[in-house]
Amino acid sequence: MLFLQRISKGMVYPIVVYGDPVLRQRAKDIEPGTDVKQLIDDMYETMHHAQGIGLAAPQIGKSVRLFVVDGTGLEKDDDEAEDLSDFKKAFLNPVMLEELGDAWEFEEGCLSIPNIREKVSRKDTVRIRYYDEQWNVKEEEYDGMKARVIQHEYDHIEGKLFIDYLTPLKKRLLKGKLTDISRGDVRTEYRILAPLRK
Ligand code: NI
Repeated sequence: MLFLQRISKGMVYPIVVYGDPVLRQRAKDIEPGTDVKQLIDDMYETMHHAQGIGLAAPQIGKSVRLFVVDGTGLEKDDDEAEDLSDFKKAFLNPVMLEELGDAWEFEEGCLSIPNIREKVSRKDTVRIRYYDEQWNVKEEEYDGMKARVIQHEYDHIEGKLFIDYLTPLKKRLLKGKLTDISRGDVRTEYRILAPLRK
């Protein structure tokens, strides 16, 4: 068997899971010009290891306004799947300028809430301002799945999680599973940091 090994530049952090207060804080801006190269490499490495397509800094325990996305490794197994092969970047100090268009539902998951997937309704299009890795300011518009990934990750740096959008009934039904997750009582393919693990 042949393995193509990616050259790894970063280290893999454990993923902070539901119940940790860092996931509920509004993250702080990073001083522009700060060297964030290693942090971004580590975030990509951690995200790839956990097979996610988005990761926000609070999910590795750092309450700063930074998230990374990477849809380039997604298998395109059906024609319906949106092309995300050019969607790999870091968003630093992002500001959501506008969310517009019709809302649509999609079943979301989150590395910090393992093994739970629920439908979330979000608007189709976002306009966002952010710094790239070289601290250049960008202002861009995204729609469809890219917009959704951005909205989900942006929520993380605002201290928000996708389960916040569920009805009280749905949330009640998930309560036991969420408690298990907080205790580290959940099966994952990646290392987690569970706040209530004994
Ligand atoms: Ni998430």
